Amino acid sequence: MSYLTIALTKGRLAYKTLGLLEQVGITCDEMKDESSRKLIFTNEDLGVRFFLAKANDVPTYVEYGAADMGICGKDTILEEGRKLYEVIDLGFGRCRMCVCGPGSAKELLRHHELIRVATKYPGIAKDYFYNKKHQTVEIIKLNGSIELAPLVGLSEVIVDIVETGSTLRENGLTVLEEICDLSARVIVNQVSMKRENQRVTKLIRDLKTVLQEERL
Ligand code: PRP
Repeated sequence: MSYLTIALTKGRLAYKTLGLLEQVGITCDEMKDESSRKLIFTNEDLGVRFFLAKANDVPTYVEYGAADMGICGKDTILEEGRKLYEVIDLGFGRCRMCVCGPGSAKELLRHHELIRVATKYPGIAKDYFYNKKHQTVEIIKLNGSIELAPLVGLSEVIVDIVETGSTLRENGLTVLEEICDLSARVIVNQVSMKRENQRVTKLIRDLKTVLQEERL
């Protein structure tokens, strides 16, 4: 029997994801060892293997079938626009994709001014401003600490994730417009959904059962 390969997102989501997989009987103690530099972890008994990847790469591994399934944020799924099935909203990692900036930038948005928008998510920003708001903007791609951009005059606003809102508050910025809600999702390769149907659908069913029990 071939392995069922699952791509997990490094960082914030990984720990919660492992906890959830444990609840459906999929364990991998090796992966919890934070000092390990190993990239692939295998549970021979279950015929399952995991690997940790950068968030943005998880949909890529899944689209190409290098992973049968993956767990990543909805932000990544929207941004990457890969061909895959999104099958479960896991309900954790909840946050919002928002347009943020100093309060004074609200007027610029209202009057559809040609402004600069800094973001790690150019695809999401473009879709929002061009297709939903019909506002022409200049989008500037950054790779992190996006809140810096309006503080140092790189852009008027940012499109970024807001979780607790602390980063915005501590830097004198605020949410100006909400784009969408985000959370962790399970994604499946389109071929694996057919070829590994039994194993994939069982895992989906088990995960849904655990999530339902948690909600009760
Ligand atoms: C994310 C996001 C915000 C922050 C929001 O950044 O880009 O900066 O978290 O969280 P908060 O609302 O709870 O303050 P992350 O920490 O992932 O790092 P990055 O800035 O390098 O992208």
